[in-house]
Amino acid sequence: MKYLILSDIHSNREALEAVVQFVRRKRWDKAVFLGDLVGYGANPNQTVDMLRELRPLSGIRGNHDKVCSGIENGEMFNRIALEAAMWTRRKLTRPNLLWLKSLPRGPLVVDNAFAISHGTPVDEDAYIFGEIEALNVFRRTDFPICFFGHSHFPVIFELSPDAITTILTVAPAFRFKLREGARYLINPGSIGQPRDGNPLSSFAIFDSTARTVTIHRIAYRVQNAQRRILEAGLPRPLADRLALGR
Ligand SMILES: [Fe+2]
Repeated sequence: MKYLILSDIHSNREALEAVVQFVRRKRWDKAVFLGDLVGYGANPNQTVDMLRELRPLSGIRGNHDKVCSGIENGEMFNRIALEAAMWTRRKLTRPNLLWLKSLPRGPLVVDNAFAISHGTPVDEDAYIFGEIEALNVFRRTDFPICFFGHSHFPVIFELSPDAITTILTVAPAFRFKLREGARYLINPGSIGQPRDGNPLSSFAIFDSTARTVTIHRIAYRVQNAQRRILEAGLPRPLADRLALGR
């Protein structure tokens, strides 16, 4: 089975369109979404519609999906994130808001092949930035393979019997073969708001038969996404950061 692993789209219609266009030329069997479909960007309804059209789809909610759909009030958000979330809540159509609200909480096991979580499989709102957080998650779970999002940083953590290793990815396409006997925490990066210093949209394709993960970096029309953010009256830093990838 070949899975599209999509995360942190953040209402960035241009970026999601570029990814969908790119994978049209590839064979894939199922789309898997790790949360944060909306928040920050200017096209929440279009991105919800586009993701819902990818079928079959397994997905979970992210922290922004919770606040934008009214499950939480966003008291942990900074001012800009909260302003964007309240704007998104007003813009979402009723069916899209209800669909977002119905996204399950992670972790979720997909096809008995791997797990998915937004932050971590222990706490959907917690971050995995480095090996210490990754090791804590490995210790408290037993998933052989878990894909996660939330940090917007593409990375693979490998736990072998004697070491934990960080594998950083290289644009535009990084292919990695999973080793037997090791466990993995894998972040495909963010489609709509990359934060690794590279503005290219980031997502992964996981081939569960060949046990390979490929992290793709895709160019999209960043300036159009920025223009829509400014035209919507959303905070300017949300537009500026798209060109910087942070
Ligand atoms: Fe996010």
